[in-house]
Amino acid sequence: MDQHIKNEVFDYAKAWILEAGERIRSKIDSPRSIETKSNANDLVTEMDQETEQFFAKKIKDTYPQHYLFGEEGFGDEIEDLGGTVWIIDPIDGTMNFVHQKRNFAISIGVYFEGVGEVGLIYNVMEDVLYAVKRGEGAYKNDQRLPDLSEKRPLKESILALNTSWLIPENPHVEHNGMEELVKTLRSTRSYGSAALEFAFVAEGILDGYLTMTLMPWDYAAGSILVREVGGIVTRADQKELDLLNSTTVLASRANIHKEISENYVQLKK
Ligand code: IPD
Ligand code: CA
Ligand code: CA
Repeated sequence: MDQHIKNEVFDYAKAWILEAGERIRSKIDSPRSIETKSNANDLVTEMDQETEQFFAKKIKDTYPQHYLFGEEGFGDEIEDLGGTVWIIDPIDGTMNFVHQKRNFAISIGVYFEGVGEVGLIYNVMEDVLYAVKRGEGAYKNDQRLPDLSEKRPLKESILALNTSWLIPENPHVEHNGMEELVKTLRSTRSYGSAALEFAFVAEGILDGYLTMTLMPWDYAAGSILVREVGGIVTRADQKELDLLNSTTVLASRANIHKEISENYVQLKK
């Protein structure tokens, strides 16, 4: 991506994400219309939809030739990652948004010919912005995030992990391996927003994040951020991520990545 365009895209994305966050904060106590999508716990509100529409209009008005790949469907039908594609989750952590009115984020990843160039994750209620331009450093507000160079052993690591993967009937991963992993780790956390979990890995306050089902908009920004500070982001079996479909994801410090994948994760399919 041309450097001038990259800077401009970053500046617009930053201004829009802050504006969208301000709109959400100003309406945080308004009555909510809550609907369900794929199942009874898959929630969506008018705010998810309004926020994606806000980005759709800004992007189309400013860059008519760019594509938008968004969770709520106000963007384009994407079949490949050719050209410039904005991959957006307008509210990541909708359950937290509904139940807690905090602990949710807006996530924007901008890809050029399949390569993540710009990433932003905005923790709306905390007013904390994680931002990255590929190759130019990752930031938490104005503070540059240091490289994840420390080789912390697994037994001293904290991993973000959803307890679903420990249920024997879960369709994705053998639970015995997950149990062994939990016993080996120092501890686990589950924040309910994939984007924030990526941001916390990049910040170094989590050592990794492992999940069996994520969509591209959940990790489009986070994967750029974590890689920028030297972390590794792949599928749980260490293969490359598929940015168009649902996938497993393992994002972590470099020294524990292979160990988690090879010694503990046995995928069922
Ligand atoms: C969800 C959150 C959650 C993750 C789910 C996602 P949403 O996104 O990131 O932490 O476990 O897989 O679908 O639906 O709140 O945008
Ligand atoms: Ca999401
Ligand atoms: Ca969402």
